[in-house]
Amino acid sequence: MKGNHLLSLADFSREQIMLMLDTAADLKRQRYRSVHGTSLSGKSIGMIFEKPSTRTRVSFEVAIHELEGYPLFLSSQELQLSRGEPIKDTARVLSRYLHGIVIRARSHGDVVELANNSTIPVINALTPKFHPCQILADLLTIREKLNELEGLKLAYIGDGNNVCHSLMVGAATMGLEVVVACPESYQPDPGITRVAQERAKEALAKVEVTQDVKEASKDADVLYTDVFTSMGQEDEKAQRLEAFLPEYQINADLLKQASPHAIVMHCLPAHRDEEITDEVIEGPHSVVWDQAENRLHTEKAVLALLL
Ligand code: CP
Ligand code: NVA
Repeated sequence: MKGNHLLSLADFSREQIMLMLDTAADLKRQRYRSVHGTSLSGKSIGMIFEKPSTRTRVSFEVAIHELEGYPLFLSSQELQLSRGEPIKDTARVLSRYLHGIVIRARSHGDVVELANNSTIPVINALTPKFHPCQILADLLTIREKLNELEGLKLAYIGDGNNVCHSLMVGAATMGLEVVVACPESYQPDPGITRVAQERAKEALAKVEVTQDVKEASKDADVLYTDVFTSMGQEDEKAQRLEAFLPEYQINADLLKQASPHAIVMHCLPAHRDEEITDEVIEGPHSVVWDQAENRLHTEKAVLALLL
């Protein structure tokens, strides 16, 4: 995997994703023994953020620090990018200084262009299309809580967005049965759904998209949701709330449809009483804080393996 970009989980095999999860689990155990890896010693990693972030920014920065690398936080407003310097020029220059780039961008195409013109690994820290780093932490969390991945039923309820796209691809690759329930106008991209379905076929799993929340959540081992209004969609908030509420909210009634041992996941930040009720996110089935913590361990694994 050394030298690869991480733009989408679709670029990685089941074995490679498993190695990322196993490496993350090792690094997590080592952290509790206060023995940190030194895989990034002497390496500098640039972190370009065009959108706000709490988890991704802090977990990557701490991960780089604990692996003895040097993190440079680069707000896009402070780079010449903001004054129109082409992405391909930025990529070529940064490749001369840095050993890797983590980027959260408003356009997925910009991240692809950055990667195509960089000679160092580029890691997608969220675009409107994908959020692969989030899903690695999610898979680690599911495996920790339910002891396996293959054969579990995961229901994603809500917007067919970046998190949903990466979750479909990542979970299907690892053999989970994925059922996505969305209103008709907010379904995931059909091309990405097809990729996830192909992955599922190889893993003897399945990916299904429905509008039926009850069918999706019935006997689910994992209930997952994300915000109805993602970053950059703020103008659509009123119409989105109307389309999603009350049907697509994870609440105590919906939780009753799922398996009694079901875990409830959310990539965060959450909008309480929109996509999830305060009662459920604070309740005994919620694993959202462990999920957020695992970002640190999976971020470390990605950096150690790609760089
Ligand atoms: N889940 C996630 O990516 O959170 P941030 O936007 O805070 O990074
Ligand atoms: N779908 C959300 C995820 C935030 C981590 C967004 O893109 O804003």
